[in-house]
Amino acid sequence: MALAKPTVEEIKTRAARYPSRQSAIIPALWAVQHEQGYVTKESMGEIAQILGLPPSLIEATASFYSMFLARPEGRHDVVICVNAPCMLRGADEMAAYLGQQLGVRDGETTTDGAITWHSTIECLGACGGAPMMQVDHHFEENLTPERIDSIIERLRTEPAPHGPKPEKAAAVARPRAKRTQN
Ligand code: FES
Repeated sequence: MALAKPTVEEIKTRAARYPSRQSAIIPALWAVQHEQGYVTKESMGEIAQILGLPPSLIEATASFYSMFLARPEGRHDVVICVNAPCMLRGADEMAAYLGQQLGVRDGETTTDGAITWHSTIECLGACGGAPMMQVDHHFEENLTPERIDSIIERLRTEPAPHGPKPEKAAAVARPRAKRTQN
């Protein structure tokens, strides 16, 4: 899908503000994600063309930052930590509860397109508040079933954190790293 004219204009305007075109890569990725909801390889090629940079540089930047999505996802991104310190404080039970309440499996999006969730074995850096999860890049700590219920209820009606996204396909599978050890 070709980028919309206003998105192309925004990327050019941003690029003109910086002495180096590389500095405009992240704003350009945001502009595309705001328009399309995620950033495809094709869009990265367009960004590269507009900025006069190698496509590999745009792809390397997009894949480095977790906030840039490569495929359609829900309006909200929920990542629950199941690394050892969180696990010792009940993370597995909280992850199971979250999946049960959302009605979709790890890596999938709810049928209303509101929430994509997955578990991660990467420590999210908030062990002091274990068990915890990251909701749209904000920490929600000391999880209990009641706290999870209230977070889900809020997210179902809240808009996307970075503006409206296009309609999402329901129950989109998204493979991510999961814990393999017991
Ligand atoms: S182990 Fe879960 S935040 Fe560190």
